[in-house]
Amino acid sequence: MEILRTKLDVKSRLNQVRNSQKIIGFVPTMGALHEGHLTLIDNAKLNSDLVIASIFVNPTQFNNKDDFEKYPITIEKDLDLLKQKGVDFVFLPAVEELYASKSIVKFDFGYLDKTLEGVFRPGHFSGVGLVVSKLLNIVKPHKSFFGQKDLQQVAVIKRLVEELEFDVRVITVPTVRELDGLAMSSRNVRLSIEGRAKSTILYQSLTFAKDELLAGKEWFIIQEQVKSNFQNISTCSLEYFELVDTNSLEPKNNLDKASGLSICIAAYVEDVRLIDNLEII
Ligand code: PAJ
Repeated sequence: MEILRTKLDVKSRLNQVRNSQKIIGFVPTMGALHEGHLTLIDNAKLNSDLVIASIFVNPTQFNNKDDFEKYPITIEKDLDLLKQKGVDFVFLPAVEELYASKSIVKFDFGYLDKTLEGVFRPGHFSGVGLVVSKLLNIVKPHKSFFGQKDLQQVAVIKRLVEELEFDVRVITVPTVRELDGLAMSSRNVRLSIEGRAKSTILYQSLTFAKDELLAGKEWFIIQEQVKSNFQNISTCSLEYFELVDTNSLEPKNNLDKASGLSICIAAYVEDVRLIDNLEII
């Protein structure tokens, strides 16, 4: 596994590969790798001839300075894991390599970044759009792999790729969970033992709501029930619990069989903000 730290290195090494007609699969990450990330790598390995991962904690997508400063960094362990998985290249740029000057370009994704996460994390998706554009332009992969765990991110990136004509296939990989249902996340390590036990409320709320919806219950009643469940648990607070169209993210209030539907949740458990979602149909 080769570690590449500069744009120039990535371009020159991957140009050689591209000339040999190999399919390049790309997995962008912010490090602190867990099984969720590694499943993206597995998918990339299965669907490409050569895999490049990136590790870059992107400052422009953090609207909260504290969250950025507390973001776990485990580079040595990450590199070991990627090596064990048989990744070919890792792009590991310094902040100055991607942001030589203070960035002035902003993305506006319309409704896609005004809802759900967008309400609570202003500017977040602009930062994601910016860094993903930079990475796709530097790496120029044939396929890029993203987790369904970040459903809104997938919607934003698909739109970005479509509108800006990036020559890449966006492949979505299902969410990887702990045995008790908690979606794997780099932030989970910040939970205390009690917090970790309480965090199962996110997935329980999603599965409860899915079952009730499929059994014919009204969405607003289910939503109220989930809100009240949260009020009964100390140190857990719900930010949103919404039924949406999986692609447009438009809110829905019943089972609309014509399109994909998902339930999205964000909640604080202690001071850790967790998100998850579940596809309904
Ligand atoms: P990060 O949070 O490190 O996630 C990297 C990729 O792993 C994303 O596509 C994310 O959806 C996926 N992922 C995280 N947890 C997952 C899980 N439990 N199951 C399946 N996939 C999971 O998302 C980002 O980084 C950044 O926004 C990035 C796209 C790298 C741009 O900076």
